[in-house]
Amino acid sequence: MHSSALLATLMAAVASAHVIISYPGWRGNNLVTNETFPYGMQWEYPCGGVGTTKNRTYWPTTGGAVAFQPGWFRGHETAFIYINLGFGTDGPDNGPKDMSNPMLPPVQILGPSNGPYPGTVCFPQVPLPKDANVKPGDLATIQVVEHAVHGAALYSCVDIEFVEPGDSKVAEVNETNCFNSSEIGFAEMFTVATVNPATGKRYDEDSAAKPSASRHLTWLPVLLLGAAWALV
Ligand SMILES: *[C@@H]1O[C@H](CO)[C@@H](O)[C@H](O)[C@H]1NC(C)=O
Ligand SMILES: *[C@@H]1O[C@H](CO)[C@@H](O)[C@H](O)[C@H]1NC(C)=O
Ligand SMILES: *[C@@H]1O[C@H](CO)[C@@H](O)[C@H](O)[C@H]1NC(C)=O
Ligand SMILES: *[C@@H]1O[C@H](CO)[C@@H](O)[C@H](O)[C@H]1NC(C)=O
Repeated sequence: MHSSALLATLMAAVASAHVIISYPGWRGNNLVTNETFPYGMQWEYPCGGVGTTKNRTYWPTTGGAVAFQPGWFRGHETAFIYINLGFGTDGPDNGPKDMSNPMLPPVQILGPSNGPYPGTVCFPQVPLPKDANVKPGDLATIQVVEHAVHGAALYSCVDIEFVEPGDSKVAEVNETNCFNSSEIGFAEMFTVATVNPATGKRYDEDSAAKPSASRHLTWLPVLLLGAAWALV
């Protein structure tokens, strides 16, 4: 009894942040820390130390649900979640060539204020990456990345085969496998516009935007001079 409680505490401490893809499945248990993976498997790019699997799960060609347990958070820890898709099996390890196709904009999640706590996050309708063109039978890999506050990332993947939406091979999505736990919050991520919407150019390369910047620069010494006069 006492030793199992101690073990649970130790496990919770070790598993301070891990990504388990609870829907549509995952490549396999990669919550392992051993001599081969002294920092833990999940820190290994691209799929947390687990190779491409043959037991693929079925997922609709129009996109579908992705649910995961982002781990156990202590304090006010936050993390950024990215969901990417890699196409085909022509890359390393008979998996995708790369995992560089984002499916959702990154989401910031906020752990509970006191923990550790388990929790689930589900996106019921994750779309395909922009400009993706898939048909039933195509193979791909969904990658969930959990970017921790200290900059390193945890990885977990699931290998999928696309099927028509509504195909009975797609596991049902319901409130038992797709829900948001109340102890995990979300924060909006703000992006700063570095492109001038009027010209479509980056501000630092946009000559049309430069005059106003240099005008501010020429006014600055005048203002400082004015301030100096005011002090005299
Ligand atoms: C594939 O098999 C592994 C090993 O048995 C298992 O852990 C994993 O959950 C399976 N993945 C899917 C998507 O069924
Ligand atoms: C560590 O765990 C992984 C995954 O279970 C396994 O493939 C590997 O052989 C293990 N390494 C050692 C040294 O036991
Ligand atoms: C939810 O769907 C899963 C299959 O994905 C099924 O095993 C489970 O029984 C369903 N739960 C309910 C309450 O319908
Ligand atoms: C969970 O929260 C996210 C972020 O607000 C939202 O996009 C998603 O639809 C929610 N999932 C469910 C099952 O309500």
